[in-house]
This record gives sequence, C-alpha cells and structure tokens, in this order.
Amino acid sequence: MTGGTAPGSFARSLLRTKPVDRIVSEGGAGEGGELERSLGLLQLTSISVGATLGTGIFVVLGEAVPLAGPAVVLSFVLAAVTALFSALSYAELAGTIPVAGSSYSYAYATLGELVAWVCGWCLLLEYAVSVSAVSVGWGSYLNAFFDAAFGFTVPAALSSPPGEGGIVNVPAVAVVVLAAFLLLRGASESATANTVMVFLKIGVLLFFCAVAFTAFRSRNLAPFAPMGWAGLSAAGSRVFFSYIGFDAASTAGEEARNPRRDLPMAIVVSLVVVTAVYVLVALAAVGAMHWTEFDISGSEASLARVLDEATGRTWPSVVLSMGAVIAISSVVLTVMYGQTRILFAMSRDGLIPRVFQKVGPRRRVPVANTVIVALFISVLAAVIPLGRLVDATSIGTLFAFALVGVGVIVLRRTRPDLPRGFRVPLFPVTPLLGVGFCGYLMAGLGGVTWAVFALWTLAGLVAYFLYGHRRSRLAAGNRGRGSP
Ligand code: ALA
Repeated sequence: MTGGTAPGSFARSLLRTKPVDRIVSEGGAGEGGELERSLGLLQLTSISVGATLGTGIFVVLGEAVPLAGPAVVLSFVLAAVTALFSALSYAELAGTIPVAGSSYSYAYATLGELVAWVCGWCLLLEYAVSVSAVSVGWGSYLNAFFDAAFGFTVPAALSSPPGEGGIVNVPAVAVVVLAAFLLLRGASESATANTVMVFLKIGVLLFFCAVAFTAFRSRNLAPFAPMGWAGLSAAGSRVFFSYIGFDAASTAGEEARNPRRDLPMAIVVSLVVVTAVYVLVALAAVGAMHWTEFDISGSEASLARVLDEATGRTWPSVVLSMGAVIAISSVVLTVMYGQTRILFAMSRDGLIPRVFQKVGPRRRVPVANTVIVALFISVLAAVIPLGRLVDATSIGTLFAFALVGVGVIVLRRTRPDLPRGFRVPLFPVTPLLGVGFCGYLMAGLGGVTWAVFALWTLAGLVAYFLYGHRRSRLAAGNRGRGSP
C-alpha cells in the first residue's frame, strides 16, 4: 500500500481510470522517442491475419478432431462466433482509443488501474505464452519438412521439451531469435515481411484444401458428431487458440497512419478471412482422413499426414510443411510485436519498469523490450510442452476478451461523446453475448488450466502491489504533479 493512504483512498486508487483524452494524447511517445506511424490498412489487416493463422490450424486442429470427430468443423464455427462478438467490441474500442496497449489500455480507460493491470497480465498469456506454443508448433513442421524433403529429423533430444523425450526444443528457440532480429529492424520492415508471409500461408492452406478435397469421402463424415455436443464444445474451447491474434492490429494503434478508420476494419476483415479458411481446411481434413486416424497420427504435423494419406505421395506434404514453416513464422513475428507494444504502453504508465519504453534512436523500436520479450518466450518454448501452453493461452485470452466487452459498455455510459470510428451493432446485446461466450469457453477448459490461471493471476496481483501500484504515473499525476 502506498505510504500513509487511508483505506478509502486506497480502494479508490485501485479503481482510478486514465482519461481517454490523456491516453490518446500521450499515444506514440515513450521515453526516448515516439513510435513511427507507417502502417496502412493492408499491413494492419496482415498483422491480424499474420498473428492468427498458424499453429492453431496446422497443429491444434489435429488434436481437436479426436475430441469432436468430424463435427470439429462446427467447433471452429463456435469458436469463431465467440471471437466475432469480441472482435466487434475490439473494433469499437480500437477505433475510439487507438493506442499501443490494446485491451490493457481500454481497461485502463474504463474499468480502472487494477483491472487494467490484470488485463495486461493476462495479455502476457495471450501474447508471450502463445508465441511459445506457436514456436513449438513451428518446430514440429520444420521436422516434418526435413523428414519429407531430406529424410532426416532433428533428434528428439533437441526438438522436444523435457517430459516428452527431449532436453530442449532448439527449433522453437531459433524461430523466436529470428523474429526478434527482424523486429529490431523496424515495424515497417517487419510488417512488409509479414504481409508477404500472410499471402503465402493463405495460398498454402488453399493448396491443402485443393489436394485434400480430391480424396474427400462423405463416409468419413459419418457419424458426424460421435461425441455429441460435449465433444463439439470441448473441441471449440481447444481450437479457440486458432483465433487468438485477430486483435493484434489493435496493438499497432500508434503505428497506424489512420487508426480510427483502419483499425476496426482490419480486425473485422481479418476475422472473416481466417474463419472462412479454417472451416474450409477443417472440412477438407476430416473429409480426406477418417477422424479416428487423427489421434494415432503420432505427430503434431497432422495436415501433412492428411496429404500423405490422401495422395500416397510425399511432394504435397513437402509443399505444405514448407508453407507451414513460413506461415507460423509470421505468427511468431506479429504476436511478439504485439507483446512488445503492450509492455511499452504499460511501462509508459509506470506500471512496469521504464526499460520497456526506451526507443532506439535510429529505428524507433523498443530495443531492450524486444530482447527481454524474446528471452522470456525462448525459455518457455524450450522446455514446456505444446498442449499446456495452448490451454494457458486460451484462458488468459478469453478473460481479456471478456473485459473488452465490459469496457465497451462502460465507455458508452461514461464517455458517450467520444468520436468512435466504429460502433458495435445491437448494443448492448453484442458485447454482452461476447462476455457470455468467453465465460462459456473458459468453463470448458480443464481444472489444471484453471489452477494455472489462478496462480498466474495471484502472481500478477503480488507484482502489482509490490511495484505498479506505487509507481503508477497516473497516481503521480493525481497527486498534483506533472509527469515524472
Ligand atoms: N492463433 C495463433 C495460432 O494459431 C496463436 O498460431
């Protein structure tokens, strides 16, 4: 507790909100410089698609099929509906408060500092922990590619975490390091590289569909839902991971040329694009290979296996694995980018150390921030198995998404006057449904995941009371001083 504060003012300090006008006017400027406004609509949409389309469809689809059977196609729709309600809420807040911190900044403007902090802490799960999971998936496809193209694989000791027959996952670390180098070159360079990768990955997935549909057998779809609704919805919770990232454009609010117009558009368009691709790919996969074959695939690179089975040749899976390696790299790149920008915003608010907002003089990117994030992600990716990372990511993300829905409702009441680049249709039904769906999918995640989430939140609260609460710049401002 801050020295000498009365209980009433302590409680008020937890609920202090940061005025939207102040958030927006501060936008761009961190200690040591501003971020550069260089991104247009195509690049912003590509950031969202780039951050979304990756390990979820290439790897987690294969893990979800045994839960739901062919009905996994509908599990993707269920997860998409959840994502859509949240996407609309994100679009409204991104168009109203276009700054770097995504839902953390929205929560700060609407629900108060404590909730904002918890939200930022959950975003660490959505961004940093998810990149670790994604990098592990990248390693699986790299091995699948080496295997199909050259007949060798990286030995298990060097490509799996402890507990799964390995010591350290070197490929997963390698992709994180590569992405960090690219990010240090600048947001615009990274965004251009990402846009190219996005077109490539959509192309590769369409290639998968074209080949898999040649082996489509309608008998593979019967029975359609062998595990009933329970299986369908459990798979929905699992594949929700594949939608995480559509909000990534909202972390680029301070590097967008026309954020109020382009951010909402980028978020909604990217969600529509990835949903269409996912449903098509899932249908092609379960139509080409019987669902019972998926759980014995023994490899995380399940789409490559579908193509092997479907064609009896290896070249289609070589093409697919190579495409997946490129596709998943762009997720690592964009999600890492998002994480650095969220930490940048939190640091500017004084809630985490200043080192996270120091911008390099030449390329105007947060250098130390990027290096620290890369180190953290590499360590997780090196030693933790994919499934655990995926579920921890999903629960944190769903919580952050639910907060965004609540934020829309609160901001409409507290600041109806603000210019909004986009307004959710059917207010307040849409954000409320978003909150409800997020809660439903959270309930579908297992007890271990909930325990991890509870511990994570507890650790976050300890960190907040030991550091952020005392150092908050908002508190300093409220005490009548200017910015430090
Ligand atoms: N949605 C991202 C992926 O599936 C995290 O790779």
